Amino acid sequence: MKRFGVESDEVTHPLTLRERRPELRLMNFAGMTAVVASGTMRRVLEKAEKVARTDSTVLISGESGVGKELVARAIHHYSPRADKPFVDLNCAAFPENLIESELFGYEKGAFSGAESTKQGMFEAAAEGTLFLDEIGELEMRMQPKLLRVLDGQPYYRLGGTRKIQATARIVAATNASLENAVHRGLFRMDLFHRLDAIQLRVPSLRERIDDIGPLCDMFLESSGCNLRADTLELLRQYSWPGNIRELRNVLNKAVVFAEGPELTPADLPLGFEHDHAATSGYSLERIEEQTILRALDQTGGHQQKAADILGISRRTLIRKLKTYGSPHTNGHKTGDRGARMHGPVAAAHAGGHGPGVSL
Ligand SMILES: Nc1ncnc2c1ncn2[C@@H]1O[C@H](COP(=O)(O)OP(=O)(O)OP(=O)(O)O)[C@@H](O)[C@H]1O
Ligand SMILES: [Mg+2]
Repeated sequence: MKRFGVESDEVTHPLTLRERRPELRLMNFAGMTAVVASGTMRRVLEKAEKVARTDSTVLISGESGVGKELVARAIHHYSPRADKPFVDLNCAAFPENLIESELFGYEKGAFSGAESTKQGMFEAAAEGTLFLDEIGELEMRMQPKLLRVLDGQPYYRLGGTRKIQATARIVAATNASLENAVHRGLFRMDLFHRLDAIQLRVPSLRERIDDIGPLCDMFLESSGCNLRADTLELLRQYSWPGNIRELRNVLNKAVVFAEGPELTPADLPLGFEHDHAATSGYSLERIEEQTILRALDQTGGHQQKAADILGISRRTLIRKLKTYGSPHTNGHKTGDRGARMHGPVAAAHAGGHGPGVSL
């Protein structure tokens, strides 16, 4: 990252970030640093601490990028299992035939390619915590097998003959409603109820805007940049469909485009100007221009597709662009401005603005 004439504090001051910036309210959870500043997030962590004392299965829900893995690590951190392994497995990352061997392991020769015995994630997490991320993606065939283990029954490695008793505590996470998946026949109701013994919902970033400032400070720490007050205000007003992951990406981009160490609204990707425009008394024409540019961003500069989205003809779109003197009239995306349009706008369309998981 860019540094703007800032000397490396780490060399002269061997203090940790937490010691240098106590106001950031940083916590360390099983290898991850977390900002826990808002009252909302503090309450989530208090619940995590209580839940951690039990051995119960926990289901963590919340939109993508809110920090579900971080909360899973917090549960491990606060639990009596803290000095045992924390193992995470993303259920969506493995194809059907691999997830079983990942979870339960296999014996040498169990299938072609099994050249040596391998322990599964349940064994790797023994007496610790096994975090099953994106549990809603676990294929149907695997679900009863997982349920049996959660019910305390022993299992076998693939091709194995020795019974193994799982001792890991299970924490699962989902960014989609598992109830909906059950209704749609994609998730077993019995497994859902087994996982749902205790549920923790991690609120979206727009529900805890007091975390935004401290998060920005943490993410910007190594860049030597900071936020001007009006820039922070814009970030606090934005809806953050991609949550903390999106916030970090937006800041990374802003640092790249910044003219100096203080980030101004102009350094932010274009979507922020648009959102701001809607609430800042900008002219209708300016808001219209931003909407059209946003549609062009969404379609990679394709004028016909952008016109379709907006419900106007391509001719009208070109005429309006000419009125604004926009370089988009030549049908190509343009240098600096075009490049900047991939921030919150793109993420908003990818992530959607739909309602959060309200479990
Ligand atoms: N409170 C926090 N403080 C600092 N960083 C955080 C915080 N919460 C989340 N992050 C960071 O944001 C990113 C997304 O967090 P995480 O992976 O836990 O989200 P998630 O809810 O599991 O998302 P997904 O559903 O997409 O897997 C990570 O890089 C994480 O380190
Ligand atoms: Mg995750």
